[in-house]
Amino acid sequence: MAQTLTPTPSESPPRGRPFSEAPRAPALRMLRRVLSKETRDDMLTTFGELREEYGPIVAHGAGPFRGVFLFGPDANRFVLLDRRGIFSSRKPWMRIMGGTFPNGLLLWDGEAHKHQRKIMREAFKRPMLRSYTSAMNPMIERGLGRFDASAESGAELKAFDALKELTLEIGASVFMGAELGESTTAVNTAFEGLVAASMPGGIRLPIPGLEYQRGLKGRQFMLKFLGSMLAEKRANESPDAFSQMCHAETPEGERFNDTEVLDHMIFLMMAAHDTTTSSLTSMMYELARHPEWQERARAECRTLGKPYAEFEDAPELEELTWVMKETLRRYPPLPVIPRMALEEFEWEGYVVPAGTMVVVSPIVTHHMPEWWTRPYTFDPLRFSPERAEDARHTHSWIPFGGGVHMCLGIRFAESQIRAIMHQLLLRYRWTVAEGYEMPVQQAPISKPKDGLPIRLERI
Ligand code: HEM
Repeated sequence: MAQTLTPTPSESPPRGRPFSEAPRAPALRMLRRVLSKETRDDMLTTFGELREEYGPIVAHGAGPFRGVFLFGPDANRFVLLDRRGIFSSRKPWMRIMGGTFPNGLLLWDGEAHKHQRKIMREAFKRPMLRSYTSAMNPMIERGLGRFDASAESGAELKAFDALKELTLEIGASVFMGAELGESTTAVNTAFEGLVAASMPGGIRLPIPGLEYQRGLKGRQFMLKFLGSMLAEKRANESPDAFSQMCHAETPEGERFNDTEVLDHMIFLMMAAHDTTTSSLTSMMYELARHPEWQERARAECRTLGKPYAEFEDAPELEELTWVMKETLRRYPPLPVIPRMALEEFEWEGYVVPAGTMVVVSPIVTHHMPEWWTRPYTFDPLRFSPERAEDARHTHSWIPFGGGVHMCLGIRFAESQIRAIMHQLLLRYRWTVAEGYEMPVQQAPISKPKDGLPIRLERI
């Protein structure tokens, strides 16, 4: 497999074959695929088929709509590590969510991104992560009301809806330092609008009735909601991320201004709660379908011997972590990651011109038989130290992306997932109906179309 990992000096441009000769998916078929509901629901099949049919590089489109799919761990490493600084995250993400999350961290490139990320990192240092997890544990316990009610009545519970409500409450408290109370529905509606407006293929015009308009309204609501708290957060330091970002300062004295704080907060709330809800839901699904793993994970939680899993308990919850990793392999909340090439580059022997939209795919990579044993089987043991299938390549398991834009919330997300699962496993046993298969919509963030109906039994 041809790779270009070392920087290509600008005075000696790449000498591969022209892009026009690269394997190409027919325009009409691609258009249908990119815009179709089937693709949104099942990117794994759609893009997996492209890879099988055409290989590791697949060109499509023309002019300003020219794009290329690069499949496999080498491509992930090349594009995400971006050693030459030639891939823009800002350009494609602006197209997708520029109107709704205009200054989110993903929408910055180069030095400006480095500057923003450095300040935001201050809010995600270990002592903060420790305190976020400790703060969320009693909230999780208080927030299990819907689960309790369902266990008591025996009625089905839509796991996705209940988990979404729970993670939103936790996010509001840990990120904003606010109890949502009566504002829960309004904040939830605002975020639903914001995420739905980021659907690929949607029409980006502020026309009443369109998803995009709902997204813009959601943004206005959140700016007002957070804006009303800003002065207080600036004045007093508290252990929530909102306050931390108001006060975050790098050793060089760099700080966020008010607009930056508000925009980063809206983006963070979205990045944090939809992805974690998606992961928890998929995990509940797989644990319902694999009761032997549910029991194994529960036994491990019991061995921990305490009602709350704290940040530093991660090493004691090893098998639960394998389950989490395996779930993120099978159902990465972000199935594809887009970039725009700012300069031409060579890959697989072809010269890809500047201005091409480059897409790599966690979900396709996570199901490549070259890297994973029986990739469509749920098998947490593949993450055990004995098998360590994820160690076969640095970029074969990439649910959190990689390189300069690698998820900043990775440790927070893992800790939150463990903390919630720990309490769920200690408190309930759950099942799905015989033969049930979760219908998934994979874009923009993977979720079950039916909310994942489960039945709970109180232990
Ligand atoms: C299981 C949960 C999560 C998954 C799977 C996930 C996945 C990702 C991925 C794939 C990216 C990179 C996208 C790209 O390169 O284009 C990303 C970026 C990001 N994520 Fe997460 N995320 C999760 C949870 C969180 C949480 C809980 C937070 C906040 C506490 C968060 C904050 C961010 C931020 C700020 C970025 C942008 C980083 C940058 O541009 O430098 N994420 N996430």
